[in-house]
Amino acid sequence: MKKTMVDFFKENPTIKYIYFGGKGGVGKTVVAAAVALWMSKQGKRTLLASTNPVHSLSNLFQMDVFGKPVLIPGTDNLYAQEIDTKDTIERSKKEIREKISWFLKYADIPTKADDFIESATMNPAFEESAMFENMTNIIFEDKFEFYVFDTAPTANARRLLGMSKVYTLWVDKMLQSREEARSMRLNLSFRKKKLEEEEDPLLDYLTTFRDRIEKMRVILTDEKKSSFFFVTLLESLPIAVIKRFIGWFKDFGIPIGGVIINQCIDKKQICEDSAEFVLNRCKMQDRYREEVYKSFDNVLGEIPLFEKEVRGLEMVEKLSNALMNQ
Ligand SMILES: Nc1ncnc2c1ncn2[C@@H]1O[C@H](COP(=O)(O)OP(=O)(O)O)[C@@H](O)[C@H]1O
Ligand SMILES: [Mg+2]
Repeated sequence: MKKTMVDFFKENPTIKYIYFGGKGGVGKTVVAAAVALWMSKQGKRTLLASTNPVHSLSNLFQMDVFGKPVLIPGTDNLYAQEIDTKDTIERSKKEIREKISWFLKYADIPTKADDFIESATMNPAFEESAMFENMTNIIFEDKFEFYVFDTAPTANARRLLGMSKVYTLWVDKMLQSREEARSMRLNLSFRKKKLEEEEDPLLDYLTTFRDRIEKMRVILTDEKKSSFFFVTLLESLPIAVIKRFIGWFKDFGIPIGGVIINQCIDKKQICEDSAEFVLNRCKMQDRYREEVYKSFDNVLGEIPLFEKEVRGLEMVEKLSNALMNQ
C-alpha cells in the first residue's frame, strides 16, 4: 500500500519543522499552504513562512502578510508570514559594519573599514545567510507548534544548508585570528590590565553567531524534528531538479520526508474526443509518473491539476483535501 502524507505525520508525530523544495513554479507555495492548513486543523498553532522575496503568500491569500505572522481569516490556527529579507540584509550589514569598524580600530589595522565591509557583505552568500538568519530567528522565537517553510528554489536552499558548516569553519577561523591579534596587542601594551578587562563585542558577536548556526544545524538535521519535502510535476526538468536536490540533501544528512506530485491531469475528465494536446500530455504524464515512482521510494501523494490557479483559502482547502485524503 502506498504511504500518504497523513501516514507520514502519524508515523512522525514529533516533526515540528517542514520545508518544501523543488523547481520554481511547481507548486511549493500552494502545497506548503495546503499542508499548513491541514496541520492547523489538527489543532496545532501553525506558521506558514516564506523566505521567498516574491510576495507569494500575500498573493495566495490575497492579503498582506508581509513582515509579521497574520492569522488567516476563516482558520483558527493558521498564521502566514512573508519574511522581510531586505530588512534583515540591511540590519546585518549595519551590524557587521559597526563590528568591523570597531575591530579595525581596536587592532590598529590601518585599512579603510569600507573595503572590509564590502567584501563581507557584497558576496552572493550574504543574501542567503540573511534568509537563514531569518528562519533561525523564527524557529528560536518558538511561538508556534508547527512550522512550514515554503523554501526558496533549490540551489538557494542547498547553499543555505551547506552554509551552516561553512559558517562554523569561518567563525572559528575568525576567532582564532582574533585571539592572536588580541594577545599580540596585550603583549605590546603598557595598559595590560585595562585592556584585559575591555569588552570585546566582535568576539561576543562571532561566538553567539557560531552557536546559533550550530544549534540551527542540529535542528535541521534532526529527523525527529525536521523534514524536507519535494514537489514535482510530471515533467522532465522538475524531476531532474529534485533528483539532484535529494542527492545533495543526503550528503548533508538532511532528513527527507518524501516527494509530492503536483498537477496531474485527471483521466476521468478526458475522453477520446479530448483535444490532442490534452491526450498527449496525459500520455507524457504517465511516462513520467512511472519514472517518479521508480526513482523515489517515498512518493506521498498526487495532486490533480485544477481548473484554475490556486488562490484564496477555498482553493488551498481544495488542494489540501486532495493531498491529505489520498
Ligand atoms: N494543482 C494545481 N492546479 C492548478 N494550479 C496550480 C496547481 N498547483 C499550483 N498551481 C498554480 O501554479 C502556479 C505556481 O505555483 P506556486 O505554488 O507558486 O509554485 P512555486 O512556489 O513552486 O514557485 C501558481 O499560479 C499556482 O496557483
Ligand atoms: Mg513559491
